[in-house]
Amino acid sequence: MLAHIIFTILASSAIIPDVSAAPSPYHGRGTTKSRSSSTSPKAVYLITNDQQNAVAAVPIAADGTLSAGTITLTGGAGSNVIDGATKQPAAPDALDGQSALTIAGQHIFAVNAGSNSLSMFSIDASNPTKLTLLGQPVDLPGEFPNTVAASAKHKIACVGTTGATNGVSCSSFSGSGLGEMDGLRSFDLVQTTPPVGPTNTVSQLFFSEDESRLFATVKGDPTVNNTGFFSVFPVDASSWGKAATVSTTDIRSSPNGTAVLFGSANIPGTSSVFVTDASFGGTVLDVDPATNEASLVAKQVIDGQVATCWATISPLTNSAFVTDAGVNRIVEMSLANASIIAETDLSANGDPGLIDLKAAGDFIYALSPGNGTTPAAITVLDVSGDQGSAKAIQHFALNGMGVDKNAQGMAIP
Ligand SMILES: *[C@@H]1O[C@H](CO)[C@@H](O)[C@H](O)[C@H]1NC(C)=O
Ligand SMILES: *[C@@H]1O[C@H](CO)[C@@H](O)[C@H](O)[C@H]1NC(C)=O
Ligand SMILES: *[C@@H]1O[C@H](CO)[C@@H](O)[C@H](O)[C@H]1NC(C)=O
Ligand SMILES: *[C@@H]1O[C@H](CO)[C@@H](O)[C@H](O)[C@H]1NC(C)=O
Repeated sequence: MLAHIIFTILASSAIIPDVSAAPSPYHGRGTTKSRSSSTSPKAVYLITNDQQNAVAAVPIAADGTLSAGTITLTGGAGSNVIDGATKQPAAPDALDGQSALTIAGQHIFAVNAGSNSLSMFSIDASNPTKLTLLGQPVDLPGEFPNTVAASAKHKIACVGTTGATNGVSCSSFSGSGLGEMDGLRSFDLVQTTPPVGPTNTVSQLFFSEDESRLFATVKGDPTVNNTGFFSVFPVDASSWGKAATVSTTDIRSSPNGTAVLFGSANIPGTSSVFVTDASFGGTVLDVDPATNEASLVAKQVIDGQVATCWATISPLTNSAFVTDAGVNRIVEMSLANASIIAETDLSANGDPGLIDLKAAGDFIYALSPGNGTTPAAITVLDVSGDQGSAKAIQHFALNGMGVDKNAQGMAIP
């Protein structure tokens, strides 16, 4: 089930040069679901996660396609998890997580796994590829940060660390930068720095849709009967001039049948979340607003999967899209019961598999950091034909921007 097993097996397809195909003719179908927000200037953001860590900003044209953008240093260092099978630094999927960077309003937050810090940037209102680092990276109380969540409503950023000291810590932010991080809420994982993964590590931090709670997914290790969990930290909203804070204790649950919970997304308008489980496929979990316990609504095994890890929800199709680091395809799943709606095979583009992905407007953007032989690239898929319509319209190579196999994370405003 682990990606590294297959990375060695998958040495089959030849390297195919970047096709950067002209986008297929854009067929609007007259739906008004997403059209309005897709007109403002936008970019795809990811971190290079190299020794000199940086945020890559890749501009999105009106037709959804990408072109070369900018690289802005974070002032910190990237790092790599140690692959438990090979004992070598892991790449692709250097951080074993989702949300290595995130956006709140006009700000970007990015983790520096190798220097235990968090960087904050502002995005220029008229040029989405122009980023300005705000102050210096802020030191974290934990080691090996691999995921960050930010709430625009509460002006809080929270970081998940997954090294020898691991857990969650948060900071208030303003337009001028981050404050000091608060104390570590430990996950008590027995780990090293850098951690040995992918199992037994933190996967993702994210806020609930209404931003009243911070969620975390933590992977277990089925081989040693260590069950992963879903963690909920209530947010204490700001009042009487006192800044909002995140609870120092969490409610943990291990939904029946899950083991290696990974990438997640809130299902709009519900108290449920769509979460991948790297050991079998995808799940829908309900997070009870009263008890803060997560329970299984539905689970779906994806045949032929290696490690289904990343998830996004398209508001246009009202469905989830998941990726697998070891299989080069996108799988579309139902938000009602996680059943498989469609699979889009991308093997012709030569990537070994896909990691972080995001839905935006009529499109899905999915990152393949490559493996050092194949270049890092983003595949753009058009989903404007609604459910089951996903088709690749561009394979944009990132090596020209200096992005390599260490790349991780994806955020789109
Ligand atoms: C795994 O853990 C569960 C719950 O702690 C326990 O009931 C079960 O016996 C354990 N199984 C093994 C094989 O150790
Ligand atoms: C967990 O799932 C199994 C089947 O997958 C079922 O037999 C069992 O009753 C479930 N347990 C709970 C507490 O729902
Ligand atoms: C899953 O939900 C869809 C509707 O979203 C429905 O058509 C389908 O029958 C359901 N499948 C199962 C196995 O319940
Ligand atoms: C990288 O992936 C490609 C495509 O799957 C494969 O042909 C190549 O052997 C891989 N290289 C390494 C170093 O794993």
